[in-house]
Amino acid sequence: MEGFKIKSVKARQVFDSRANPTVEVDITLNDGTVGRGIVPSGASTGLFEAVELRDGEETFDGKGVSKAIHHVNEQLAPLLLDMDVRDQKAIDSRLIEIDGTPNKSRLGANAILGCSMAACWAGANYYKVPLYRYLGGSAANKLPVPMVQIIGGGAHADNAIDIQDFLVIPTSASTFSEGYEMVVNVYNAAKMIFKGTGKPVSIADEGGLWPTGFQSNEEGLKLLCESIELAGYTPGQDLGIALDIASSEFYDQERGTYRLELEKKTLTKEEMVGMLSDWVDKYPIISIEDGMSELDWEGNLLLTQKLGKKIQLVGDDLFTTNIERIRKGVEMKVDNAVLIKMNQIGTITETIETIEFTQNHGYLPVVSARSGETEDCTIVHLAIATNAGQLKVGSAARSERTAKWNEVLRIEEALGSSARYPSKGVFAAAGIQFNQY
Ligand code: PGA
Ligand code: ZN
Repeated sequence: MEGFKIKSVKARQVFDSRANPTVEVDITLNDGTVGRGIVPSGASTGLFEAVELRDGEETFDGKGVSKAIHHVNEQLAPLLLDMDVRDQKAIDSRLIEIDGTPNKSRLGANAILGCSMAACWAGANYYKVPLYRYLGGSAANKLPVPMVQIIGGGAHADNAIDIQDFLVIPTSASTFSEGYEMVVNVYNAAKMIFKGTGKPVSIADEGGLWPTGFQSNEEGLKLLCESIELAGYTPGQDLGIALDIASSEFYDQERGTYRLELEKKTLTKEEMVGMLSDWVDKYPIISIEDGMSELDWEGNLLLTQKLGKKIQLVGDDLFTTNIERIRKGVEMKVDNAVLIKMNQIGTITETIETIEFTQNHGYLPVVSARSGETEDCTIVHLAIATNAGQLKVGSAARSERTAKWNEVLRIEEALGSSARYPSKGVFAAAGIQFNQY
């Protein structure tokens, strides 16, 4: 009996950080080895993502996953049995083939991804090596630069502020742990400032501070700079600012305009580009994600022409971890970085192929969690296995977030002197020069 063959596949319902049901899959091998994956879930999801199958019935507000679980246990499991777990590509190809649709809508990307994740953990556990080593081999030793949310807005905070993420990236640290400590200090400083306003301090979906009582989006940028200073650092030198505008959420496709509800302003695409570019002039912003809508290629091109040499421009909803969409971006010279989310595409193999495609075309991959998360740490290992260079998992608070950051700390310790940390140099590969600082 070959120990590396799949003996059983079992899906069950567990819950995520937003108290929504999600799919957990266990794969057991003939030798008793077990691998487990828990599927994450987004709120500001892109139109072109692989389909997350929800029951749509009364239970859990339509968010039940019993159909996806049934699909794993009844349709996928029988066809995975006896497969060699060491061949991740063959397993993922079979999952894609059984589903048979281009966007995994028949069985659900959540059903498929759960199996794919569980299989790669079972493979790593079979060899008794960490997942980053199993997937990445001996060359996997680059720790990611953290992109960490300080204030959460948009769909993650009942639209209390239009912009979804106000984040920081450490730029003067020479190790991951040093950089992450700087971020933690900034987070706590921001909390002190919030407390000082006398308003209740609450947190948004990804652990960032809830933006109570803001009059404008720009206030978030001011607050980030104040927090960096209060923590004892220099904005733009020690830490830069990153924004996830998630602008598809407030884009009017018919009129081609962007609506900032907080400020009661409607902007043309030229005005939107103008506002973002003014912010880049005024504040130490080094990365903007989804500055323009997933449906607005023209606006994205305008933004890239204006800012693409100065700062990182990340496509999340625009690219949805999908090689065909990234290829279009590369051809049009839109953006210079790609947000990588496993469940936007649906298998580990396709996610790795997308990261490689991104790197091979001079774009920067940013491996990312979703707003609905669990204790699962697959993405940390994926980021290190592929030497992606950047990781975004929400804030520095809430344990579904710290589960991931703490995993990087453990891997840093395990790698010891063989660990590489790109720091600010990570942006050089896309020809970005932060020449204003
Ligand atoms: P989501 O948000 O998981 O709700 O899509 C994360 C992001 O937009 O980066
Ligand atoms: Zn995003």
